[in-house]
Amino acid sequence: MLKQEIEDGQTSLADPFFRADVLDGLARRPRAIPARWFYDRRGSELFEAITALPEYYPTRTETALLMQVGPQLGALAAPNAAVVEFGSGSSTKTPILLRAINPAAYVPIDISGDFLRESARGLAEAFPGLPVHPVEADFLRPMPLPEMVADLPKLGFFPGSTIGNMTAYHAVDLLRAMRQWLGEGARLLIGMDRVKSTDILIPAYDDAQGVTAAFNLNLLERINRELAGTIPIDAFRHRAIWNANATRVEMHLEAQRDVAFSVDGRDFSMAAGETIHTENSHKYGPNGGRMLLRAGGWTPISEWTDPQGWFGLMLCEAQPIRMAP
Ligand code: AVI
Repeated sequence: MLKQEIEDGQTSLADPFFRADVLDGLARRPRAIPARWFYDRRGSELFEAITALPEYYPTRTETALLMQVGPQLGALAAPNAAVVEFGSGSSTKTPILLRAINPAAYVPIDISGDFLRESARGLAEAFPGLPVHPVEADFLRPMPLPEMVADLPKLGFFPGSTIGNMTAYHAVDLLRAMRQWLGEGARLLIGMDRVKSTDILIPAYDDAQGVTAAFNLNLLERINRELAGTIPIDAFRHRAIWNANATRVEMHLEAQRDVAFSVDGRDFSMAAGETIHTENSHKYGPNGGRMLLRAGGWTPISEWTDPQGWFGLMLCEAQPIRMAP
């Protein structure tokens, strides 16, 4: 297994899943590397910086929407609910929901233990009376929730339009897994970014300061750092394009000239103009969003959007699955 030096000077083993995804992704046509590998420490910092950019409307739009609909959410959520958040992230939106519905418990689920413990600690401090039960797990693989919340009504929380980073096929798998985590009768509050003009969408993914470009290019830097790569980073440029057919913004890394490099001892070459596809960010109209939720076993019961209709917050319920007709 490949040994390498990491940022804090300690020796570590490269993640074998990262290595496999990169080597397979570079060998495949079209070339593609899963977006989840953006989020090393530097990538997570760059993503935080993206959320504060003037062009990146989703975070501030969803945050404002949550604050505005808080009182309605308070009335719609079951009293004594346990809020279960999928992927706790930096948790900036969580306090807004917790204040609005005053739940009996909070259960953040995240695959990254460090991140999870950090955000759980912060929330426990900010909400002293609230029991916080972090669960370190991959939320695609349901397991029983902590016993302390077993008998409480559940409200799932999945903000940020992270669902948009999955193809519909995988989004449905994830929604069904969430249904299994939370059980029949549970509710789910989910953020979904909406289809809009490319005049708004493209700058949101290709900002003037170049922060999104740095976020995208950091993937190549990570490959060089962690997988003994020799990719000439300056030969690549960030591209954000609108794929109208798939209703998504795609991010790519485009070779500006013919390049040859190696990763973990394997040789690759790319012709000028060839790209590595690094992210999909699907956008949904109201009907498409509702259909996706239904396919995942969730019945929409309420939804809200900002005055420009740029971002949707949907509340849905895991109702019993009925056989047709
Ligand atoms: C995390 N995710 C919802 C972001 C998005 O908008 O698709 C990731 C991102 N990529 C570029 N900018 C932001």
